[in-house]
This record gives sequence, structure tokens and C-alpha cells, in this order.
Amino acid sequence: MTNDEVIDLLRQAYGDEIETVMNYLTNSYVLQGLRADEVRGSLRTDARQEELAHAEQLAERLSELDARAPASMEFEATQESLQPPEDPADALSVIDGVIEYEEDAIETYRALITAAQEANDPVTEDLAVEILGDEEAHRAEFKSFRRDFE
Ligand SMILES: [Fe+2]
Ligand SMILES: [Fe+2]
Repeated sequence: MTNDEVIDLLRQAYGDEIETVMNYLTNSYVLQGLRADEVRGSLRTDARQEELAHAEQLAERLSELDARAPASMEFEATQESLQPPEDPADALSVIDGVIEYEEDAIETYRALITAAQEANDPVTEDLAVEILGDEEAHRAEFKSFRRDFE
């Protein structure tokens, strides 16, 4: 048993993950300077190994539920806080953007957990719990970068 809210949240989360891959990669190539080295590396690793993997897990779950992940024409960009800074040395604004986005992602996966519980869909619930743990780890990682830059 599933319901429309679960499908809607899976589709929304898929779009967010794909948008994150673009923004993390772009920011990692915009940022310059030795100090930002670790932040650049982390953005690339998260984009390639974590956020893209999340998108694929969500797309797979959607197809198991007989639904589809959105493609680009159905997609609406929303991550204003992850637009790259004017100043390529401004790693702090990127770090703050990442923390803000990870908070949004945490909210989305919490909403998905609740919707999946209500729809009696433990497989989607498990997936959302697993991804939620990754997003909380990303938030902690960038909070620790923030302390270094203060
Ligand atoms: Fe993610
Ligand atoms: Fe993340």
C-alpha cells in the first residue's frame, strides 16, 4: 500500500538530490584558495558518492512503486542558498548554504518517514531513515567546517 504523498515526496526528494549534485559540484569548482581545499574535496565526494547515490535509490524506489522520477522539464530549481558566491574565496557562504540545504533535506526525509509510516510502506520508510542518517552526517561535517572558518 502506498499513497500519493509518498510518491510526491520521493519525487521532490529526487529533484532536490539532483539539484544538490549540480550545486555542490559547481561550488567546488568556483571556490578557490588553500583554505577551502577540504571544503572543495568534501563537496565533490558528497555530490558524487552520496547525493547522486541518494537520487538513484529514490528513482529505484519510485519505479518499484510504479511511478517515475521527474526529468528536467518537470523540475523546479529551489536552492537559492546554494548559488555560488561572487567572491571565490568566500567559502563561508558556501558552508552556510550547505548547512541550510542539509536542514531542508532532513525535513524532507522526516516528512517522508511519517508519510511512509502512515501509508504502511516500511520499505520506503527504511530508505528514508537511511538517507536521513547521511544528511545528518553531512550537516555535522559542514558545521565543523564552519567552526574552522569562524
Ligand atoms: Fe542526499
Ligand atoms: Fe546531503
